[in-house]
Amino acid sequence: MGKRILVLTGSPRKGGNCDLLAEEFIKEAERAGHRIDRFCAAGSGVSPCLACDRCWTRNGLPCVQEDGMQPLYPLLNQADAVVFATPLYFYGMSAQIRTVIDRFYPLCKDDKKPAFEGKQSAMILCGAEEDDDAFEGAVGSYERMIDYLNWEDCGILVATGLWEKGAAANAPEWLESARDLARNF
Ligand SMILES: Cc1cc2nc3c(=O)[nH]c(=O)nc-3n(C[C@H](O)[C@H](O)[C@H](O)COP(=O)(O)O)c2cc1C
Repeated sequence: MGKRILVLTGSPRKGGNCDLLAEEFIKEAERAGHRIDRFCAAGSGVSPCLACDRCWTRNGLPCVQEDGMQPLYPLLNQADAVVFATPLYFYGMSAQIRTVIDRFYPLCKDDKKPAFEGKQSAMILCGAEEDDDAFEGAVGSYERMIDYLNWEDCGILVATGLWEKGAAANAPEWLESARDLARNF
Protein backbone atom coordinates (compact mmCIF):
# COMPACT_ATOMS: atom_id res chain seq x y z
CA MET A 1 0.00 0.00 0.00
CA GLY A 2 1.19 3.51 -0.76
CA LYS A 3 2.80 5.36 2.13
CA ARG A 4 3.11 9.04 2.91
CA ILE A 5 6.78 9.87 2.67
CA LEU A 6 8.04 13.25 3.81
CA VAL A 7 11.30 14.26 2.13
CA LEU A 8 13.29 16.90 4.02
CA THR A 9 16.06 18.48 2.00
CA GLY A 10 18.87 20.41 3.63
CA SER A 11 20.85 22.20 0.95
CA PRO A 12 20.56 25.89 0.16
CA ARG A 13 21.82 25.10 -3.36
CA LYS A 14 18.71 24.76 -5.50
CA GLY A 15 19.12 22.03 -8.09
CA GLY A 16 22.26 20.83 -6.31
CA ASN A 17 23.28 17.27 -5.59
CA CYS A 18 20.91 16.65 -2.68
CA ASP A 19 18.01 17.97 -4.72
CA LEU A 20 18.95 15.79 -7.70
CA LEU A 21 19.20 12.63 -5.59
CA ALA A 22 16.04 13.50 -3.64
CA GLU A 23 14.19 14.04 -6.93
CA GLU A 24 15.35 10.68 -8.25
CA PHE A 25 14.17 9.07 -5.01
CA ILE A 26 10.82 10.88 -5.28
CA LYS A 27 10.20 9.85 -8.91
CA GLU A 28 10.77 6.20 -8.05
CA ALA A 29 8.71 6.37 -4.83
CA GLU A 30 5.81 7.98 -6.71
CA ARG A 31 6.09 5.30 -9.38
CA ALA A 32 5.65 2.73 -6.60
CA GLY A 33 2.46 4.48 -5.47
CA HIS A 34 3.72 6.43 -2.47
CA ARG A 35 2.57 9.96 -1.75
CA ILE A 36 5.38 12.44 -1.29
CA ASP A 37 5.45 15.63 0.75
CA ARG A 38 8.56 17.70 0.27
CA PHE A 39 10.00 20.33 2.59
CA CYS A 40 13.10 22.32 1.81
CA ALA A 41 14.76 23.35 5.07
CA ALA A 42 16.81 26.10 3.43
CA GLY A 43 14.88 29.35 3.23
CA SER A 44 11.93 27.83 5.09
CA GLY A 45 11.98 30.41 7.86
CA VAL A 46 12.54 27.80 10.58
CA SER A 47 14.37 29.26 13.55
CA PRO A 48 16.47 27.27 15.99
CA CYS A 49 14.89 25.71 19.09
CA LEU A 50 14.92 28.18 21.99
CA ALA A 51 14.98 25.43 24.65
CA CYS A 52 12.26 27.41 26.44
CA ASP A 53 10.38 24.18 27.17
CA ARG A 54 7.07 25.89 26.53
CA CYS A 55 6.05 23.34 23.89
CA TRP A 56 2.26 22.99 23.54
CA THR A 57 1.56 25.87 25.96
CA ARG A 58 0.41 28.53 23.47
CA ASN A 59 -2.63 28.39 21.17
CA GLY A 60 -2.44 24.58 21.20
CA LEU A 61 0.51 24.83 18.84
CA PRO A 62 3.48 22.49 19.21
CA CYS A 63 5.90 25.38 19.59
CA VAL A 64 5.69 28.99 20.78
CA GLN A 65 7.59 30.09 17.69
CA GLU A 66 5.00 30.69 14.99
CA ASP A 67 7.43 30.43 12.10
CA GLY A 68 8.10 28.25 9.08
CA MET A 69 8.00 25.12 11.21
CA GLN A 70 4.26 25.24 11.88
CA PRO A 71 3.21 23.88 8.44
CA LEU A 72 5.71 21.04 8.87
CA TYR A 73 4.30 19.70 12.15
CA PRO A 74 1.13 18.23 10.56
CA LEU A 75 3.21 16.75 7.73
CA LEU A 76 5.52 15.13 10.28
CA ASN A 77 2.57 13.71 12.18
CA GLN A 78 0.95 12.31 9.05
CA ALA A 79 4.12 10.84 7.56
CA ASP A 80 4.64 7.10 7.55
CA ALA A 81 8.27 7.75 6.64
CA VAL A 82 10.73 10.64 6.71
CA VAL A 83 13.72 10.94 4.40
CA PHE A 84 16.59 13.27 5.35
CA ALA A 85 18.57 14.50 2.32
CA THR A 86 21.51 16.70 3.25
CA PRO A 87 24.92 17.77 2.06
CA LEU A 88 27.86 17.02 4.30
CA TYR A 89 28.93 20.29 5.92
CA PHE A 90 32.03 20.09 8.09
CA TYR A 91 31.45 16.36 8.63
CA GLY A 92 27.88 16.77 9.81
CA MET A 93 24.42 17.46 8.43
CA SER A 94 23.79 20.98 7.15
CA ALA A 95 22.72 23.60 9.68
CA GLN A 96 19.50 24.04 7.73
CA ILE A 97 18.30 20.46 8.23
CA ARG A 98 19.69 20.28 11.78
CA THR A 99 17.63 23.34 12.70
CA VAL A 100 14.47 21.59 11.50
CA ILE A 101 15.37 18.38 13.35
CA ASP A 102 15.89 20.26 16.63
CA ARG A 103 12.36 21.54 16.23
CA PHE A 104 11.07 17.93 16.43
CA TYR A 105 11.49 18.51 20.17
CA PRO A 106 7.78 19.24 20.93
CA LEU A 107 6.86 15.94 19.27
CA CYS A 108 9.19 14.06 21.61
CA LYS A 109 7.84 15.42 24.88
CA ASP A 110 6.61 12.79 27.38
CA ASP A 111 3.02 12.06 26.32
CA LYS A 112 3.60 13.14 22.69
CA LYS A 113 6.52 10.87 21.92
CA PRO A 114 4.58 7.59 21.52
CA ALA A 115 2.53 9.16 18.70
CA PHE A 116 5.71 10.22 16.94
CA GLU A 117 7.35 6.80 17.17
CA GLY A 118 7.20 3.92 14.72
CA LYS A 119 7.95 5.66 11.45
CA GLN A 120 10.29 4.50 8.74
CA SER A 121 13.16 6.66 7.58
CA ALA A 122 16.14 6.95 5.30
CA MET A 123 19.05 9.28 4.73
CA ILE A 124 20.59 10.69 1.57
CA LEU A 125 23.98 12.29 2.16
CA CYS A 126 26.16 13.89 -0.45
CA GLY A 127 29.61 15.37 -0.10
CA ALA A 128 32.81 16.08 -1.94
CA GLU A 129 35.09 13.61 -0.24
CA GLU A 130 35.71 10.19 -1.76
CA ASP A 131 36.12 8.37 1.53
CA ASP A 132 33.02 6.97 3.28
CA ASP A 133 34.70 7.60 6.65
CA ALA A 134 34.22 11.35 6.21
CA PHE A 135 30.46 10.81 6.48
CA GLU A 136 30.56 8.87 9.77
CA GLY A 137 29.59 11.82 11.97
CA ALA A 138 26.45 12.61 9.99
CA VAL A 139 25.52 8.92 9.67
CA GLY A 140 26.07 8.35 13.41
CA SER A 141 23.90 11.33 14.28
CA TYR A 142 21.10 10.01 12.05
CA GLU A 143 21.38 6.49 13.48
CA ARG A 144 21.24 7.64 17.10
CA MET A 145 18.33 9.94 16.32
CA ILE A 146 16.16 7.26 14.76
CA ASP A 147 17.07 4.82 17.52
CA TYR A 148 15.85 7.41 20.03
CA LEU A 149 12.66 7.94 18.01
CA ASN A 150 12.08 4.19 17.56
CA TRP A 151 12.02 4.62 13.81
CA GLU A 152 13.02 1.90 11.38
CA ASP A 153 15.93 2.66 9.07
CA CYS A 154 15.22 1.77 5.43
CA GLY A 155 18.64 2.73 4.12
CA ILE A 156 21.44 5.26 4.08
CA LEU A 157 22.83 6.53 0.77
CA VAL A 158 26.31 8.01 1.14
CA ALA A 159 27.02 9.67 -2.20
CA THR A 160 30.73 10.51 -2.21
CA GLY A 161 32.80 12.53 -4.67
CA LEU A 162 30.13 15.15 -5.42
CA TRP A 163 31.49 18.68 -5.26
CA GLU A 164 30.16 20.83 -8.10
CA LYS A 165 26.52 21.78 -8.29
CA GLY A 166 24.80 19.24 -10.51
CA ALA A 167 27.59 16.65 -10.36
CA ALA A 168 25.05 14.02 -9.32
CA ALA A 169 23.38 14.31 -12.73
CA ASN A 170 26.51 12.72 -14.19
CA ALA A 171 26.83 10.06 -11.50
CA PRO A 172 24.58 7.21 -12.66
CA GLU A 173 25.61 5.01 -9.73
CA TRP A 174 24.25 7.51 -7.20
CA LEU A 175 21.08 8.11 -9.18
CA GLU A 176 20.53 4.35 -9.29
CA SER A 177 21.21 4.14 -5.54
CA ALA A 178 18.58 6.82 -4.94
CA ARG A 179 16.04 4.78 -6.95
CA ASP A 180 17.06 1.64 -5.02
CA LEU A 181 16.50 3.46 -1.76
CA ALA A 182 12.94 4.33 -2.82
CA ARG A 183 12.27 0.65 -3.46
CA ASN A 184 13.02 -0.11 0.21
CA PHE A 185 9.72 1.46 1.33
C1 LIG B 1 29.86 25.03 4.15
C2 LIG B 1 30.26 23.79 3.40
C3 LIG B 1 30.90 22.78 4.10
C4 LIG B 1 31.25 21.60 3.44
N1 LIG B 1 31.86 20.61 4.16
C5 LIG B 1 32.16 19.44 3.54
C6 LIG B 1 32.77 18.37 4.26
O1 LIG B 1 33.03 18.45 5.46
N2 LIG B 1 33.07 17.24 3.59
C7 LIG B 1 32.77 17.08 2.25
O2 LIG B 1 33.04 16.00 1.70
N3 LIG B 1 32.20 18.07 1.54
C8 LIG B 1 31.89 19.25 2.15
N4 LIG B 1 31.27 20.25 1.43
C9 LIG B 1 30.91 20.02 0.02
C10 LIG B 1 29.44 19.63 -0.16
O3 LIG B 1 29.06 18.63 0.75
C11 LIG B 1 29.22 19.13 -1.60
O4 LIG B 1 29.53 20.14 -2.51
C12 LIG B 1 27.81 18.63 -1.82
O5 LIG B 1 27.73 17.95 -3.06
C13 LIG B 1 26.82 19.78 -1.79
O6 LIG B 1 25.52 19.32 -2.01
P1 LIG B 1 24.43 20.27 -2.72
O7 LIG B 1 24.85 20.39 -4.15
O8 LIG B 1 23.14 19.57 -2.53
O9 LIG B 1 24.47 21.57 -2.00
C14 LIG B 1 30.96 21.45 2.06
C15 LIG B 1 30.32 22.50 1.36
C16 LIG B 1 29.99 23.66 2.01
C17 LIG B 1 29.30 24.76 1.25
